[in-house]
Amino acid sequence: MKKTVSIGTRLTAWYSLIMAASLCAFGLAADLAMKSSIHSTVDEGLRQRIEGVRNILLEEGPKGIDALTDEFQEYADGQGKRGRLRVVDPSGKLIFVTPASDFLAKAAGDSGSDSEYVTRVDGEGFHTLHDTIDANGGTYDVVVATAMDDYERAVDRFELALYFSVPAILIVAAFGGYWLSRRALSPVDEITQAARKIGAQDLAQRITVHKSGDELERLANTLNAMLSRLEAAFQRITKFTADASHELRTPVSVMRTSAEIALRKSRSEREYRDALGQILQESERLSQLIEQLLILARSDAGSSVLPMIPTNLAQPLQSACAHASRLAQEKQVSFATHIPEQPLWVRGDSASLERLFLVLLDNAVKYTPDGGRIEVQLSTEDTLAVASIRDTGIGVASEDLPHIFERFYRADPARTRDLGGSGLGLAIGTWIAQVHGGEIRVQSDPARGSCFEVRLPLSLNGDAEPVVAA
Ligand SMILES: Nc1ncnc2c1ncn2[C@@H]1O[C@H](COP(=O)(O)OP(=O)(O)OP(=O)(O)O)[C@@H](O)[C@H]1O
Ligand SMILES: [Mg+2]
Repeated sequence: MKKTVSIGTRLTAWYSLIMAASLCAFGLAADLAMKSSIHSTVDEGLRQRIEGVRNILLEEGPKGIDALTDEFQEYADGQGKRGRLRVVDPSGKLIFVTPASDFLAKAAGDSGSDSEYVTRVDGEGFHTLHDTIDANGGTYDVVVATAMDDYERAVDRFELALYFSVPAILIVAAFGGYWLSRRALSPVDEITQAARKIGAQDLAQRITVHKSGDELERLANTLNAMLSRLEAAFQRITKFTADASHELRTPVSVMRTSAEIALRKSRSEREYRDALGQILQESERLSQLIEQLLILARSDAGSSVLPMIPTNLAQPLQSACAHASRLAQEKQVSFATHIPEQPLWVRGDSASLERLFLVLLDNAVKYTPDGGRIEVQLSTEDTLAVASIRDTGIGVASEDLPHIFERFYRADPARTRDLGGSGLGLAIGTWIAQVHGGEIRVQSDPARGSCFEVRLPLSLNGDAEPVVAA
């Protein structure tokens, strides 16, 4: 099995990576900012010192060299032992230098005036500033410096703090992030466990929905809705299979019984003929039933593709009427048609439409007693073609009316079974009408008979090229 990394782990990894990058950038920036701030503070201090020296030169210069030296000594003492000072008079004579400040001479010699740099003496860093001061009619050469050890120690401490705190913050953040992601995603695990437990036999089970109002509640609700649809589909199929088996059993057992009785002893030719006739009748009913079941099974699978081409609706209706009028004649039911001469174009499959009309006409004949009347009419209503089949038959009671389009539903099972019905005709008819974008409407009254209407959208491009649609 492919090794999977959980979302929680991945989220934590990304989060830690981003956190690490941000913390490193922050540390680096803080370090640089601190160093630059120290640098400018020290620089500012050195420049002030040069100013102090300038003041001394201007005020004490005229008093002579001794006064100057004393003043410089006092000034240097005031800076503490971290400060360094070296002053050379215009003649090139060294008039003052703090102790242990030989490196200042090198600074004065190497660099131009107003130059500032850091130098190391015996491992100790000095920030040095070299400048010239015009006073007393000449140019004095001045170098000031300050020891950086305090500052360097501060920077070292700061960096050390960063080295420890960044990984520590990172570890805490990673654990926190992992804990948070586990907490946020734990309902997903719960949903997975629940979904895993639901099998084909217990589709009635549902996933527990926590009313959190978030994506996970929506996910659970969506899965539950899907389960409901699956359950309904599963139940429909189970019921269909059970009903179908039940319907198939009856003609088979009738055929078997007829054959068994006929074979029990020797019989006259008429008796054999009767038995065979009954077997033939039942086998016809059986093949019709099997054909109906096949149509419905295909419609469920969505695999039957009807060639939807411009069709004159009068054509399939007339063929169906020709067949039905013969059946009506046999039953002495009067049969009238009102089908207009001009074509009524719809997009559809002629054979399927004929089957749909046959279903309705077959019912009309079947459920209309002798002496009744059947009327077929084809007309238009706005953008619809309407084929109506009206009979003066037994009608459908109002409590049965909502169900007659269901599979295997028969309003009066005992009677319709005698009439050869299995309750699939209208279910097939409905499917055909729906595939054509139409519907079947019914009005029925046991006292006056029924009227079934097939309503299909008219197609305006009657002579367009045939198109095949799913
Ligand atoms: N014109 C009608 N007059 C009275 N009842 C009808 C009419 N058409 C349908 N029905 C009622 O609706 C039920 C369902 O009709 P449907 O055509 O689906 O099945 P069926 O005629 O019993 O069997 P099948 O058509 O499969 O041979 C019928 O059993 C009948 O009770
Ligand atoms: Mg029928």
